[in-house]
Amino acid sequence: MTNQPPERLLRIGLPSKGRLAEISAQLLNDAGVSFRRPERSLFARCRDMPVEVTFLRTDDIPVLAAEGAIDLGITGADLVAESGAPLVHRLDLGIGSCRLALCVADDSKVTDARQLAGKRVATSFPRITRTWLAQRGVEAHFVELSGSVEIMIQLGVADAIVDLVETGSTLAANRLRVIDEIGRYETVLVQNHHVADAATADRIVRRLEGVVIARSYSLLEYNIPRSRLADAEKITPGFNSPTVSTLEDPEWCAVRAMVRRGEAHGIMERLEAIGASAIIETEIANCRL
Ligand code: PRP
Repeated sequence: MTNQPPERLLRIGLPSKGRLAEISAQLLNDAGVSFRRPERSLFARCRDMPVEVTFLRTDDIPVLAAEGAIDLGITGADLVAESGAPLVHRLDLGIGSCRLALCVADDSKVTDARQLAGKRVATSFPRITRTWLAQRGVEAHFVELSGSVEIMIQLGVADAIVDLVETGSTLAANRLRVIDEIGRYETVLVQNHHVADAATADRIVRRLEGVVIARSYSLLEYNIPRSRLADAEKITPGFNSPTVSTLEDPEWCAVRAMVRRGEAHGIMERLEAIGASAIIETEIANCRL
């Protein structure tokens, strides 16, 4: 008999705190990777899969995934880029989209990044910012921080800041304006290059993909005179192609197609304008395409 230790369960790292913690736990749950986190525990065992979840600081997830402490991790693509950790990008999760912007005070005379040579730039993203400025031939003095970057011009320690912008309300509240955009990011699923249980990792990715696509699409169903079907198909080409069924009245047919959720209202109006009727939008809970 061999006395080998049991293989480690596939480990997923999730943010331990904040809005992203709730959203990512819900996403996994919707994908059938369900777990219950015992109070204050940093581990949870999944119910129906050989998977355990560990709760970590969002900004530590890239490096912990690269080091192999976790196999998969949910974190911001901004943090992955800033860490420089070698990781496999598995999936964009369709949440937490933001941009990283170079900002100055509203009343600053600076209008271009090149005017920042030798000036002070405060940021929590020194790696991305340094590379971006260097590509423009600019060398600046960096004030590296882990938060509250938006008040650094007011505090007199910076001439410009590089910070994340989501709604823009932090910028407005601190009388700052964007002079350039450095990058756009969203929440992502990343993977270690040497994942032990690749089959389980792939199953989780497929499941999450089904939920992510389902959240960004709706199903539209409508009836249309056959004579207008070609026009209707142009309006709703579907994910691959629309499903067309016959109706008892040979002059009419029924169409079913996926549409981007945010575009459904406009599409319904356009369908109505070409003679469609009984147009119904249904939410999709999950899908495999
Ligand atoms: C982030 C970011 C900005 C703000 C942008 O800060 O650093 O300050 O959100 O969001 P808005 O455009 O919707 O206002 P966070 O709240 O994560 O805290 P931090 O300042 O400590 O990084």
